[in-house]
Amino acid sequence: TTVEYEAESWDMGGHDTYMHKEIFEQAEAVDRVLRGRIDDRFSTVHLGGLNLDAREARGVRRIKILGCGTSYHAGQIGAQLIEELARIPADAEPASEFRYRNPVVDPDTLYIAVSQSGETYDVLAAVQELKRKGARVLGVVNVVGSAIAREADGGLYVHAGPEVCVVSTKCFTNTVVAFGLLALHLGRTRDLSVADGKRIIAGLRKLPEQIADILSREDEIEKLAEEFTEARSMLFIGRVRGYPVAREASLKLKEVSYIHAEAYPASELKHGPLALIEPAMPTVAIVPDDDLLEKNRAALEEIKAREGKILAVAHREQEKADHTIVVPKNEDELDPILMGIPLQLLAYHTALKLGRDIDKPRNLAKSVTVE
Ligand code: G6P
Repeated sequence: TTVEYEAESWDMGGHDTYMHKEIFEQAEAVDRVLRGRIDDRFSTVHLGGLNLDAREARGVRRIKILGCGTSYHAGQIGAQLIEELARIPADAEPASEFRYRNPVVDPDTLYIAVSQSGETYDVLAAVQELKRKGARVLGVVNVVGSAIAREADGGLYVHAGPEVCVVSTKCFTNTVVAFGLLALHLGRTRDLSVADGKRIIAGLRKLPEQIADILSREDEIEKLAEEFTEARSMLFIGRVRGYPVAREASLKLKEVSYIHAEAYPASELKHGPLALIEPAMPTVAIVPDDDLLEKNRAALEEIKAREGKILAVAHREQEKADHTIVVPKNEDELDPILMGIPLQLLAYHTALKLGRDIDKPRNLAKSVTVE
């Protein structure tokens, strides 16, 4: 399938790679996904294409999110946002796994297919199988009019703009923000209070400025990347909200730098990965200032005690870390949107120093339209 973009989207705009350009487009892209959707009067959002009225929305008992690669990780954060804001049980699963395990398709479950391209074969096939069984499927898609967008019963566009680099950055961020909007919308048709609705809206509005703030610290991250070029393997850890962030950050590093990276829930360290910790195995830890802060700090201590090098992404300096990238605090629920952004730059600069083919990593394709 070919998707035609306007000529200007191919313009590198002074950047050396599309990945760099797209990382730096994120503040603007997030602004675009929010634009025209926020309803301050009722502290909610309007999502015109959802095709789900309030009564139907209230009838949803469970949400299952399907995607591949980065879109799957965005869906994992999306599931958490939906559970937190709308209190609907939700989880994400790789579309291909779902498709091949003869899943129980339940009429009270709302299925959501996530895809940047809207053409990924495994996702499309999952959508078609679901529709054949009479399920309701929404799409969270970037490319307007793509196969998955057309096949779905409704959905919301991510409006990240054309993404050229094989490795997804701005579309990931915008997809997570789109899930924030959907979660808020579902929450406000249920039990999310007006006050909480206002709080989340204010948090969403802060995102573009906070993203710009993170990106303005590129020099600091570029210097840090120097230390990771020698690593043969890296561990990424996070807990609950931080875990999918760790997973996506580890995927980014692998894809673009070819350094092996593995993500683990911080709580699982003691059940295996601690055996790997030594000076040559750096850990990147996601440490938000939320109710799990102390737990996360305890994990850092465990790693430090074994002489592991630690890079923390946190809302304030972490004593046990060798370096902390301090990111701006948002509402607890929205923090995951910001915490992965410095790690996109870390992956980028590590790959650049290693001389990798950043926009076209070996063996990978932007969209996989075959089985
Ligand atoms: C490919 C790309 C990934 C992407 C995945 C899903 O594997 O290399 O970057 O996350 O497909 O693509 P989609 O277009 O469905 O989001």
